Amino acid sequence: MRHLMSPLDFSVEELDYLMNLASDIEADPGKYAHACAGKKLATLFYEPSTRTRLSHEAAMLNLGGSVLGFSTADSSSAAKGESVADTIRTISCYADICAMRHHKEGAPMVAAKHSRIPVINAGDGGHQHPTQTLTDLLTIRGLKGRLENMTIGLCGDLKFGRTVHSLIHALVRYPGIRFVLISPEELRLPSYIRSDVLDQQDIPYEEVVRLEDALPNLDLLYMTRVQKERFFNEEDYVRMKDFYILDRKKMELAPEDMYVLHPLPRVNEISVEVDDDPRAAYFKQAQYGVYIRMALILTLLEIEV
Ligand code: NCD
Repeated sequence: MRHLMSPLDFSVEELDYLMNLASDIEADPGKYAHACAGKKLATLFYEPSTRTRLSHEAAMLNLGGSVLGFSTADSSSAAKGESVADTIRTISCYADICAMRHHKEGAPMVAAKHSRIPVINAGDGGHQHPTQTLTDLLTIRGLKGRLENMTIGLCGDLKFGRTVHSLIHALVRYPGIRFVLISPEELRLPSYIRSDVLDQQDIPYEEVVRLEDALPNLDLLYMTRVQKERFFNEEDYVRMKDFYILDRKKMELAPEDMYVLHPLPRVNEISVEVDDDPRAAYFKQAQYGVYIRMALILTLLEIEV
């Protein structure tokens, strides 16, 4: 039995397989409409979510399966003090696969250890978010036609943003990837990723504070929200929250084919006027999230169509 904890749980070849399957699902959804008939997905969400939870659920429903779960910790027995280990032992009796989001780094790993069903990490604190990375890879491949030889700008909260952490881990395995890390000093990429991943593997990167300086040289811009819930005090958040605002004027500095991705939710970091720009790809990205999660569910359940 396989779980998904980190994007590195899949080899580059397996990622290719997943993305090809997702593209086939997109092209011919009818073929997969009953693939998971009789199967159940449990969504165990101890932290807020719109896209991740509902796209996992939509994915399972699109495959003809059913869904059950909770969307807040306080509506589950966690509020009574139940451990993740006990919860997953119970859920293993009710469902065939589950997706778990938790505020504590490592909680889905604890679940996987005690689970009889595949566990998908749907985001654990400021650590990892592998299904968002699968979504991002499929989106980049769909838009740019490749995953290699690219300069990628990662902008915003690089310290607490788990989507960025997972995406870096995944992308360094492709040749010719360079990063421009765009963040305020206080929200720089943690050194455990900068040194242990980028430096160790000799991945070219630069760190800049001004978005305007980076824009002309990017193939892709990945914007992120300042992660309010991970700040220790409100004052720091308020100081940081509007540090970056991508607007129409700044988009004029960017190449014609520089797509803008964002895992969403957006707060202020992308002005709504950018939504009409043909390079704004974040809602398309949300759509890709359903196809790749369908492919993931089929793969973890070992269902062949
Ligand atoms: C992200 C997350 O939860 O980490 N959202 C998502 O899953 N699409 C990004 C965020 O919350 O900023």
